[in-house]
Amino acid sequence: MSMRILAATLALLFFSISSARAQSSIAQTPPMGWNSWNHFACKVTAADVRGAADAIAKNGMKEAGYIYVNVDDCWQGARDDQGDIRPNENFGDMKALADYVHEKGLKFGIYSSPGPKTCAGFEGSYQHEEQDAQTYAAWGVDYLKYDWCSASEVYPVSQIRDVYKKMRDALQRTGRPIVYSLCQYGWKLVWRWGKDVGGNLWRTTDDIEDRYESMTRIGFGQAGLELFAGPGHWNDPDMLEIGNGGMSRDEYITHMTVWCLLAAPLLAGNDLTKVTPADLAILLNREAIAVNQDPKGVQGHRVSAEGPLEVWAKPLADGSVAVGFFSRAGAYPVKVNFKDLGFNGNVHVRDLWLHKDLGTFSGEYTAHVPRHGVVLVRVWK
Ligand code: GLA
Repeated sequence: MSMRILAATLALLFFSISSARAQSSIAQTPPMGWNSWNHFACKVTAADVRGAADAIAKNGMKEAGYIYVNVDDCWQGARDDQGDIRPNENFGDMKALADYVHEKGLKFGIYSSPGPKTCAGFEGSYQHEEQDAQTYAAWGVDYLKYDWCSASEVYPVSQIRDVYKKMRDALQRTGRPIVYSLCQYGWKLVWRWGKDVGGNLWRTTDDIEDRYESMTRIGFGQAGLELFAGPGHWNDPDMLEIGNGGMSRDEYITHMTVWCLLAAPLLAGNDLTKVTPADLAILLNREAIAVNQDPKGVQGHRVSAEGPLEVWAKPLADGSVAVGFFSRAGAYPVKVNFKDLGFNGNVHVRDLWLHKDLGTFSGEYTAHVPRHGVVLVRVWK
């Protein structure tokens, strides 16, 4: 082997090791930010995305950890003569948009599909994976949601892992750390292999809707998936609906609490330029966010279910445990035995929505839960 070939091989090796390392240091806690889909759907424009970035930078969300500003479907135009993907007239210049978001100290996310078309019928990445990954990196993309959509027209579903790995490898070759979000509705038990194909998160269900029934079916339906989540690789029960108007205050507080206990991505999905102080306060509950972002990275599990009354717990890095008491029906008392949380003797309890220490309790704690509501506490010895 000549010196030149040896040097080139070593350089390539170094490059792949360092880009793999950059990749492995992202999403160590569940990604937080905003995504355009739940509110704007296909009407989204670059101005809406700039508006979201402006709001996040000013309203306390950035400081609270909401960093990713993600464009979902409907930004794509046609490919040019070289096959490079171009944005449509609602977006104009993606590099300029990414720069704008970056100048606010935030990160920029984008959306595509392994199929020929996205779910809304725009240009997908099929047979352009490498080229699209390079384009995203050149624009400064930090997050890619890759949505199966029309891929069933060109691949058997049995190849789903290889299809996702193909884009992961293409992203890796750009050398840019890009959060990789798999979106394929939980098919083929994605939680079992999402991490192996390089996913930082993977959707576990079909699409959320801004209704209590949809949100709770998806949220509480995550029971059992906690085995598969951890730093760098998370179950994704879909984006938040808080502030979109379809649920009551207690229902939105339940939504935030379930997602925090699940160590789910916290991607606001409302119009942040018009968010009410009450909805913003739900998104900004620092004590709930600390549960979500806890460095131990353990997804919470269901401790008990007595019909519509559920107790969920999430162990935290400092040895304390976050506990949610839920009523999926009317107002009821809901109890937990401390031994089911691994505690004996006296235990301290703090309410994370009231931001108040409730005192010391022995043996058990009973929370008074409103209809469709929650009490979230942290307990410790
Ligand atoms: C699918 C996804 C949604 C959204 C739309 C966009 O339905 O699951 O989250 O990205 O496509 O078309």
